[in-house]
Amino acid sequence: MSNLRIPGPTPVPPEIQEAMATQMFNHRGPAFSKHIGEATEKLQDFFQTTNDLLLLTASGTGGLEASIVNFFSPGDHILAVSIGYFGDRIATIAEGYGANVQRLSFEWGSAADPKVIKEALANNPEIKGVLVTHNETSTGITNNLEAIAKEVTKANKLLVVDGVSSAGSIPLLTDDWGCDVVVSGSQKGWMIPPGLAMISVSEKAWEANKSASMPRFYFDLTQAKSYLERGQTPWTPAISIVVALNVALDMLMKEGREAVFERHHRIANRVRDGVEKLGLTLYADPNHRSDTVTAVSAPNGIELTEMLRILREEQDVILATGQGPLAGKIFRVGHLGWVPDQAINELLEKLEETLSTASITQQ
Ligand SMILES: Cc1ncc(COP(=O)(O)O)c(C=O)c1O
Repeated sequence: MSNLRIPGPTPVPPEIQEAMATQMFNHRGPAFSKHIGEATEKLQDFFQTTNDLLLLTASGTGGLEASIVNFFSPGDHILAVSIGYFGDRIATIAEGYGANVQRLSFEWGSAADPKVIKEALANNPEIKGVLVTHNETSTGITNNLEAIAKEVTKANKLLVVDGVSSAGSIPLLTDDWGCDVVVSGSQKGWMIPPGLAMISVSEKAWEANKSASMPRFYFDLTQAKSYLERGQTPWTPAISIVVALNVALDMLMKEGREAVFERHHRIANRVRDGVEKLGLTLYADPNHRSDTVTAVSAPNGIELTEMLRILREEQDVILATGQGPLAGKIFRVGHLGWVPDQAINELLEKLEETLSTASITQQ
């Protein structure tokens, strides 16, 4: 098995792979109803919410699209806070559906400043909602969502959170912090394959939904909610992934929610320390480094593409390259979901070995 250390898709433990080999069953029958009912309740625990929690058969981006089209109308003013590639993506989705998007971008590698968000909200009373990425996977930064949410809720705006690479792996207190809509994706910390987006929806968001007129069909959350009440989804779901989710959530709950978060913190520290001991420089602001993905600056004098190729082809260690403007400038290590300590030890050993290979030195 490859040592797959990208920030999603993440490796799937053997017991979950086995569960997914299930024969198909009727998605409009009692077995599916039991699966989706149980998975939803367990997810609410991890999202730390009593809000509605809906499952969509889609990747995380589908969840992001749902988080826009269900709550806004064309022309609505939206503040899109971006610290990287995925913050830019949700802003682009909102623009695509005709929202009047004010982009508030912070330097890549740093976190959003809640004071600047507060000022932006004070300067434009027309803003209806704020889009924030909790954990920016492209730069390895975790925003101070609690502080940001405080400003957004004080200003009484709708808060939409991209929690794709944070929910289930690090604390995200949906209700206590006042997050109205939170999106995650199955292939991240949940230890299961791609195929499901999870989305939580507050009462305030449902209120906004009543007048929201952006076009939607597949991602209409009122349909998802009404079908869930019958233990179903409106359209044919990714049944195997829902089964897998239930098994994964049982494993995570057995370990304990807070223990899962602590484990991610401990492993992230191990990766950060290990990488620095090899003489490499971490890319992200030290005050906001992510516990799910570590971004490392391309080592001086090293051919990054060649380094990643050798790791992949000769060492069977798969790391991620940089995205957008960071392509060729950083590499990223994913450490969310199922991350045995041994896999990290091996990754660091193989990285050390590869760094000493003469062929990756730039001429
Ligand atoms: C923070 C964040 N948002 C959104 C996405 C998009 O999710 P997907 O690739 O599942 O559509 C990702 C995926 O890497 C992500 O990390």
